[in-house]
Amino acid sequence: MQFNTSIAGIALATPICNASGVMCTTDEQLSQLAFDPTIGGIFTKSCTIEKRVGNPYPRYFAATASSPSINSMGLPNAGIDYYIESAKRFGHIKPVFLSVAGLTLQENMDIIKRIDENDNSMISGIELNLSCPNVPGKPQIAYDFDAIDETLRRVFEIHHSSKLPLGVKLPPYFDPIHFEHVADLLKQHPVKWVTCINSVGNGLVIDPIHETTVIFPKSGLGGLGGAAIKATALANVYAFRRLLPFGIDVIGCGGITRGMDIFEHILCGAQAVQIGTLMQDQGLSAVQKCLTEFNHIMTLKKYTSLDDFRGKLNVVEQQTEIDAARDPSCYFEVRSRKNIFP
Ligand code: DHB
Repeated sequence: MQFNTSIAGIALATPICNASGVMCTTDEQLSQLAFDPTIGGIFTKSCTIEKRVGNPYPRYFAATASSPSINSMGLPNAGIDYYIESAKRFGHIKPVFLSVAGLTLQENMDIIKRIDENDNSMISGIELNLSCPNVPGKPQIAYDFDAIDETLRRVFEIHHSSKLPLGVKLPPYFDPIHFEHVADLLKQHPVKWVTCINSVGNGLVIDPIHETTVIFPKSGLGGLGGAAIKATALANVYAFRRLLPFGIDVIGCGGITRGMDIFEHILCGAQAVQIGTLMQDQGLSAVQKCLTEFNHIMTLKKYTSLDDFRGKLNVVEQQTEIDAARDPSCYFEVRSRKNIFP
């Protein structure tokens, strides 16, 4: 089975990466990703210029069968210089992408300048995070379309002569007009990939037993992850794959808990996937299991490479009302509405 793929032309041995934020803040964590053959590429923790301790605890709560994960970490990170050094340690093992999340446009430019002016030969690319939902008083850049444009314009003014590919991490969008508007903006800049999606921002998970929120920052609001967000993630991957030219890759992120979820993301057009909540809650062994399941699915379907099915999702055939009434998946809906088969 051929699992190999690429992001912005950078070769990956498998399509599975960590989602930035998970197992990627310290070199000890990064080395686990580097030496695990399931992981095709590494994304470092979104960083600022200086190191940060992040928000007060509790700031993460794991997913359950009936609720998403929720996080409000507040960008705890070791600072850009640390991750530039991490890439020197691990970049010869597999691709390392640095995630950048300055608190201001100027800080984003300063971080990118720092990367460009350093020895960056072991860095495969930069993922500019336009969608961190968790810093009090700092709205998500990517929900302000003028701010996306301004950010990319200023960033590429300083980054244009660099050979390092730059992609962006987007938040979920929920309206086709927004997909189109953001895609039109992105096309005007030399963005090499989009990662869809960051967590669903500012959700609320509560503990009804103790009648409390489950995390402390922002009165309990935080970014949602896990199986509950898969449908939203797939919609974003599918929309951006169709709207963007093929020179811009789409990385799928959101709701992957089993091999079939990886298959679905790639079917919607993902070039690779990132796994967050599952890796955070259940560790690398759960991610390894996903790859094994994904292998079985490809085998059953007689696919030998990701190109055999990537982006090949079809829209289901239209049915007449009678067809729909005979289709068990629609049966109850139609029967209860129309009483065709009393
Ligand atoms: C954090 C969360 C995010 O979703 C993100 O994109 C960046 C940072 C955080 O809380 O640390």
